[in-house]
Amino acid sequence: MPQKIILDVDTGIDDSLAMLYLLASPEAELLGIAATAGNVPAAQVAANTLAVLDLGRAPEIEVALGAAEPLAVPLRTTEDTHGLQGLGYAVLPLSPRALSARSAAQLWVELARAHPGEAIGLCTGPLTNLALALRIEPELPRLLRRLVIMGGAFNHPGNTTPTNEWNVHVDPEAAKEVFDAFSAAPPDRRPVVCALDVTETIEMRTEHLEQLARAAGSTPHEPIGPADLLEWRSAATNPIVRYLTDAVRFYFDFHHQYELGYLAHMHDPFAAAVALDPALATTRPATVDVELTGTLTRATTVADWAGMWGREPNADIVIGADPALFFERLVTRVGALARRLYPEQP
Ligand code: BDR
Ligand code: CA
Repeated sequence: MPQKIILDVDTGIDDSLAMLYLLASPEAELLGIAATAGNVPAAQVAANTLAVLDLGRAPEIEVALGAAEPLAVPLRTTEDTHGLQGLGYAVLPLSPRALSARSAAQLWVELARAHPGEAIGLCTGPLTNLALALRIEPELPRLLRRLVIMGGAFNHPGNTTPTNEWNVHVDPEAAKEVFDAFSAAPPDRRPVVCALDVTETIEMRTEHLEQLARAAGSTPHEPIGPADLLEWRSAATNPIVRYLTDAVRFYFDFHHQYELGYLAHMHDPFAAAVALDPALATTRPATVDVELTGTLTRATTVADWAGMWGREPNADIVIGADPALFFERLVTRVGALARRLYPEQP
């Protein structure tokens, strides 16, 4: 059964891999993509998103530009994490395709209304567009079949401040509006939240890239590591493998620089996999709210697991996953996509 997806991204290295995962998944039908400001400004996110769609030889999937700024604060971007253009060391050709005439918020609303009870929302960036869409259509929680969000940190340190996860940090007001909007949603419509607690266990390593290159039939074998020169670029025969090597190597270098090891946390591809197959994650209901006023803790996500606030749960937080199973799926699917789209010439 096709899984209709509305994707909201701030492409972004791991967002791009989430997109390739969806393109590689036969059950996924991408209805449209909203570009949100986050890792890089919204216009750059939109350009990156179109370029990744071109790389994945995707059909004409609509890409709509999101708001340039978060709801209440100036935009903060993170080129040190994702590279100047947002795709690590990779540079993709500019897409000849145009952006949608509608805004990202309109895209959310109109697609959800056109497919009532069928579309799965997947957010891998700040929640600005979705919050704006909820202001237009407060029934979105009931119109969507499911919502999966990458964001937040609960029983886990932040990756942006001691308690903040990046996507919520960029637009905390939007995150709060989204969680508040789901407070009246029926249990089967509660957002599934992939927070750092679990996404930081999704550690991509060089061997995963090597397995993917093999699955794609790409040559030559390119073992990468922290000693590689900054200016080194992949010469892989397969364009998807070439792209991923250059993009993900930057992400490896970033994590390595912060003494996390030569690895990269694949937050967004994991959320994409959960959107298509919720069985990949174990969840626990909780009432989630976002701190907006703390002097040290603004933009912190707080989970009330025990009902102490006396409010119904408004989220299902992912508390467990099988990283090995996820990576097997990622490598197999994206490797097969790369091989199918760019077969080696004999
Ligand atoms: C999130 O922040 C972004 O930099 C990543 O793309 C991911 O969505 C992780 O905190
Ligand atoms: Ca992201």
